[in-house]
Amino acid sequence: MRPVAIFDSGIGGLTVMAEVQRRMPHLPLIFYADQDHVPYGNKTPERIRAYMIEVLEDLKPYNIQALLLACNTATSAAADFLRAQTDFPIVGMEPAVKPAVLKEAVDKKILVSATDLTLRLDKLTRLIKNLAAEDRVQRLSLQELVAFAEKGDFDSPAVEQYLRDQLQPYDLSTVGALVLGCTHFLYFKPLLEAILPPAIDIIDGNAGTVKQLQKLIVYHEDGQGAEPRPQFIVSGRPASKEEDFFQACLRRS
Ligand code: DGL
Repeated sequence: MRPVAIFDSGIGGLTVMAEVQRRMPHLPLIFYADQDHVPYGNKTPERIRAYMIEVLEDLKPYNIQALLLACNTATSAAADFLRAQTDFPIVGMEPAVKPAVLKEAVDKKILVSATDLTLRLDKLTRLIKNLAAEDRVQRLSLQELVAFAEKGDFDSPAVEQYLRDQLQPYDLSTVGALVLGCTHFLYFKPLLEAILPPAIDIIDGNAGTVKQLQKLIVYHEDGQGAEPRPQFIVSGRPASKEEDFFQACLRRS
């Protein structure tokens, strides 16, 4: 089986990789984190497209069968651009607004959290418009969570205060669901569950994305063989000192 590469600006993509491993334990995986350039959410789409060209170059020797963009921001800025120059499938991510809109009562608001760039780009506006949900959706930037996550800080008083400050302008009694539209944000689910009123559902798009990947690739169970060890790459070089942290993040996911 040819490997699948999973890409993110940093550790957020490991939350998606954990889901891939649960569903397809024998799939050979390469995890690529562009930590030299994280965060992506405060960069321009042009910058991100330039980074992604380098990522494709770095992945060439691995003969991958598909690339999973485990990053909402890179998907919004670069997925179509990358598809135009590759002959393997590129699976992207988008904030799970659709399942949230379908699940919640019509009088409930949907709070879509994401990076600054994901919230700003047309892709999200189009998604909301196609669902005729403009009146129900509110946008919430949680960009700083990316930096907290990269430091391995998932629950300190500082991150809790940041979340409380960001949520403060919203009337949470009208909200039915919080959509986690950035893969880094999944690490904060336990903290968010503790802060938010229990009636608010917390929804992410990881399972839907992995199901989509599963439809597009060649995968078979190898009954005898051991599960392959993933390879970890950081901005083009083999991860060495980062690997322990990545494995700890996978265990959390
Ligand atoms: N994990 C990313 C996402 O899903 C990107 C975060 C960032 O680098 O700003 O959007």
